[in-house]
Formats: sequence, C-alpha cells, structure tokens
Amino acid sequence: MLDVKDTAVTDDHADPVIGDPRAFAEKVAAWVPHDIVLKDAWFPLAHGFAVTEKPVRRAVYSQPYFLWREGGKAVAAECHPADGLTASKSAYTDAAGRYPVIEKYGYVWCWLGNPANAAPEHLPSLPYLPEDGGLPLHMLGTVRFDCTAPLSLENLIDLTHADFLHADVVGDEKMDKETVEVFHDTESITMVRTCVNKSVAPVMKLFGGVKSDVQQVRQVIRIYLRSHAAIAYGRFSPGDNVQLFHPCVPETRDRTRLDYTMNTSNVKKNNPFRYVMPKASYKVSRQDSSMTSPQSPRYMRPEKRKDLHSPLDEAGQKYRVLMLALAERQARGDFAHRDNVSADCSEIIGYQKP
Ligand SMILES: [Fe+2]
Repeated sequence: MLDVKDTAVTDDHADPVIGDPRAFAEKVAAWVPHDIVLKDAWFPLAHGFAVTEKPVRRAVYSQPYFLWREGGKAVAAECHPADGLTASKSAYTDAAGRYPVIEKYGYVWCWLGNPANAAPEHLPSLPYLPEDGGLPLHMLGTVRFDCTAPLSLENLIDLTHADFLHADVVGDEKMDKETVEVFHDTESITMVRTCVNKSVAPVMKLFGGVKSDVQQVRQVIRIYLRSHAAIAYGRFSPGDNVQLFHPCVPETRDRTRLDYTMNTSNVKKNNPFRYVMPKASYKVSRQDSSMTSPQSPRYMRPEKRKDLHSPLDEAGQKYRVLMLALAERQARGDFAHRDNVSADCSEIIGYQKP
C-alpha cells in the first residue's frame, strides 16, 4: 500500500484503518498509550559507540537486553554473559539466549518478537544518517522521559506545540500562513508542516548566523509505529536543514529512552550551529518532559475532563488509531508487515541530499 495522503480528518474514512468518523473519534478517546505493546519490531537500543566488549544493559517493555561485542560484532542476549546461562526459554531469543541484532545508521538495533520473523527489511529508512554510522560524538546524545513512549511521540508529531513550549529555541507561533498535511500507511505516519514567514528560530539567530527576522520553514515528523522511532527533518530558509533522529525506546511502560542523533554535518564547520544545535536537545527534552511526565500517569486513573482535539492535531489522532490498529491485529496473532518501512523515504520527507 502506498502512503495515503490525508487532507483532512473527515476525508479518508474509506480507509479501513481510519474507519468512519464516529468510530475514529471513539478510538481516539479510548486511547490508553500504556496498553500498547507492539512486537516483531527493531528497536535502536544503543549508539554503536556505547557497545563495547563490556556488556551494557538495556530494556524494551522491561524485557532485558545485554549488549556487547564479540570480535567487533555487536551481539545481544537476555542474560549477562557472566551468568553463564545459555539455554533460554524465552520466545524472543534463539536456543543460545541471543536476540537478532543489526547494526545500521550508527545504532545497535535489537529485535523484539519472534526471531524467525526478524528481517532487515523491517528496519526503518533513515535517509540522512550514514548507514555505517561514524558521526562524531557531539552529534549524539541520550535523554530520558518519565512517560510512556507513545505519549512522547504523539507530543512530537503535533509540532505546533514547539511554538509555545520551545519558543526560546525554535521560534514562536508568529507567521503569515501554516499548512499541515498528514500521510500514513499501516506502519508509519508522516506529518508535513509548512510555515510562511515564521519568526526565526532564536538558536539560528544566536548561533547559526541567520540575520533576517523571518524564515520559510518546512518541518517533517515521520514515525515508524512499531519501532517507536521518529524522523524529525526541518528545512529552514534562510538557515540550515535540521536532521534529527528521535527514537523513543519504551524501556518500561512508563519510561522512555531517547538515544538521539542530530546530524549537523551539513552545516559549515566554522558555524557554531553545527555544535550547539545537537546540545539543544537537552534543553528541549526538559521542556517536553515538564508537560508529558505529569500527563502520563493520568491515563492510569479515571479522568472526568475531556481529551479535546483540534484539526491541527490530526496527525496525533491518526497516530493513536494506527497504533491501536496494529495492536488489535497483533492481539489476533497477525504480526505481518503490510508496508515496507525500509523503502527509501527521501521523497516523502522531502530530504535534499547534499
Ligand atoms: Fe517538544
């Protein structure tokens, strides 16, 4: 299935995943992100540099993963190798207790699910990260959220929040015109936001050498549903393109690990933006956390207040319904990938190759 272009919430209810408007609204309202557990997926559990001969521990939905290298090759197991446990009864590992592993885009990806279904074509396409990794450490970082991973991603794909929550970094809400377009298939959702004459991002004015007061902005968020991983790609004119990979690994149902890569190798070497922008994630993530951390536990108790929406968070609503559709299929024992996440997504995100 090709990406379906969605122009408005009410326009594409012929799509069986989206359903009729009333069923759609009911699903959006019934959403409890903590209940979603998706399997048969690759998760980027560590930056490649963080995996050495000495094992490190990671987790997906509290399932333990120990990662280390043998002869330079990354491996992952359910038990620490020093425990001497090789035979495993886990459904997620082979007889030796090992998980399927792929190293790509500077990450060690581990499979959660039936090992027989682990295949490279289920690994997401990330066009602006070098396939062999090797980006300098200043472009990489790790932050954590005390909230459930789908909430972090839903917050991200509603990019209008950035104008208010991150105004001091990426600029405020002032602009002449804003358009939001949403595309989806069964494995991914993509939001494209176009802004005309938007206030210049302060981080670009202060460090990026942008002199004008307004800029033309095109921002894309593309979420790979199963992997809980997002592309955040921004084109700014004047200014430099921002190329962020934003995975939200669900370490537990209520804790998220974000080993990010902000590839600023497109920015000139004498431009401080190249070094400052990746570090902005530490500030931005604290701002996000101030909203999502208190919000996350509210799904766990009865709430009388309505969960309200506007057409501008169409992408967030569809994200919920697409995640629920995958979870429902998996509950019926259907783990098949109906769409190919590894197909080059350069065109849909509007990636301009250097
Ligand atoms: Fe944010």
